[in-house]
Amino acid sequence: MTIPGKPTDPQNPLGDLEEWDDFVKERYPKPADAESLVGTNQDKTEEQFRDYETEARSSVRDFYRLNHQGQTLDFVRQKRDEYLNLERREMSVWEAAEFLNTLVDDSDPDTDLSQLAHLLQTSEQIRSDGHPRWFILAGLIHDLGKVLCLFGEPQWAVVGDTFPVGCAFSDKIVFPNYFDDNPDKQDAGLQTPLGIYEEGCGLDKVMLSWGHDEYIYHVTKDHMPLEAQYMLRYHSFYPWHREGEYSQFTNEQDRGMLKWVLEFNRYDLYTKSHKAPDVEALRPYYEDLIAEFFPAKLRW
Ligand SMILES: [Fe+2]
Ligand SMILES: [Fe+2]
Repeated sequence: MTIPGKPTDPQNPLGDLEEWDDFVKERYPKPADAESLVGTNQDKTEEQFRDYETEARSSVRDFYRLNHQGQTLDFVRQKRDEYLNLERREMSVWEAAEFLNTLVDDSDPDTDLSQLAHLLQTSEQIRSDGHPRWFILAGLIHDLGKVLCLFGEPQWAVVGDTFPVGCAFSDKIVFPNYFDDNPDKQDAGLQTPLGIYEEGCGLDKVMLSWGHDEYIYHVTKDHMPLEAQYMLRYHSFYPWHREGEYSQFTNEQDRGMLKWVLEFNRYDLYTKSHKAPDVEALRPYYEDLIAEFFPAKLRW
């Protein structure tokens, strides 16, 4: 998925957004015991992690450098103010999916499936495993927040593993050294384990780096059950759900919901295939599913 007309834009180093997804999948390969994803990287050595980092494409490294440098507490507050009043436009879920698909890069049609294909593959796998309808719907919509790219946001403010701002950066976040260029790193008050937050305050009170997860959560939260809200909001929060970090902020509800986030992560990461789903054949089923949970138009 290339940003049209911006292939060499220094703010958008990724050739397409999937380069980030592919990197995450390499870092978190499917564990043999898929029942417990949390902590599955704990038997990896520091060197193995550094290997992922040194072997990463330069575009991926450049992407993380920008992400870690730019995601400050001020930046996140500014983006939340800018987007979370949801006054940008009104779109149905299906319209948003089609809008997102306008980002498709067809330079390599054999390997590069559309965003809608990733969403439908995810939701179809969830469906074929017999999960509830809200879970299937969460699969369908989880990446629609990437329309932020079409609203002019750079890649580093749309995708990437998310992490809390306003407190110390965990060294389990990929490319931790890049935080040296983040201005918050020089602010001692923001670099304690709790930072601006209180112990056990709950993740809802913690501001994560800005991206597509937080955005789609706000667009859809009034219509989805709590489990789905957690899946949508935290699906890129790898430092929490795969590394076990930031437990100083979690409350009982967060700890109870973690299993759903992990259950979802399995589908997000490991169901990619190169076979494109038949969008038109699937559309009636999904139009019904969307209508069951959402009004005709959502505010974005
Ligand atoms: Fe995502
Ligand atoms: Fe995804």
